[in-house]
Amino acid sequence: MKKIAVLVSGGGTNLQALINAQSRGEIVNGEISIVISSSPMVYALERAQKAGIPSYVLDRKQYPSSQAMTVALVDKLKELSIDLVVMAGFMTIVTKELFEVYENAVINIHPALIPSFAGPGCYGLHVHEKALAYGVKVSGATVHFVTEECDGGPIILQGTVDVLPDDTPESLQRRIMEQCEWKLLPQAVSLFCQNRLKVEGRTVRILP
Ligand code: GAR
Repeated sequence: MKKIAVLVSGGGTNLQALINAQSRGEIVNGEISIVISSSPMVYALERAQKAGIPSYVLDRKQYPSSQAMTVALVDKLKELSIDLVVMAGFMTIVTKELFEVYENAVINIHPALIPSFAGPGCYGLHVHEKALAYGVKVSGATVHFVTEECDGGPIILQGTVDVLPDDTPESLQRRIMEQCEWKLLPQAVSLFCQNRLKVEGRTVRILP
């Protein structure tokens, strides 16, 4: 059974999707061992508590640098013998110390079709504002392995939605969450836990 750490910074709807998938038995060979939050005041922590999952706060403000916070994060992950790190709306920069220990074992969900609307400054609602301003007709979500390059790691799964004429950033965000993020993230986590993801350069092969 693989031990999973879910990293959060906000409302935690993707965490909830993982918790729900786990309770339906859809995270095959994996179990959420801990929820780690970058802030003490987020609703995601309540979701963890309601589900009976231990949580831990790693407050970025308590550390002098992103590197110092990352080293503390890696220490905690190692202490708990975590196998998979899932960034589910985690909005804090991490540094190479994480990937040195967890190579191809950190997964992120991004609310756009990478490489569009990705990279530094593209997070949360801003992503959907940029997509609408650009006038795209489809958008979606991407689950990918995390590397040192922001939003640049190998893509695991992608899903699309149509952009509708009257969409606001909020309505587009909600449709992408419902139709893509909350399905793709648990699927990718389950595939990882079954050792069914094989990274070949930039391509992730999904084994039968
Ligand atoms: C989600 O839409 C997630 O894709 C996005 O933040 C939101 C978090 O919502 N992540 C990023 O933008 C990362 N670059 P949640 O806290 O309800 O899961």
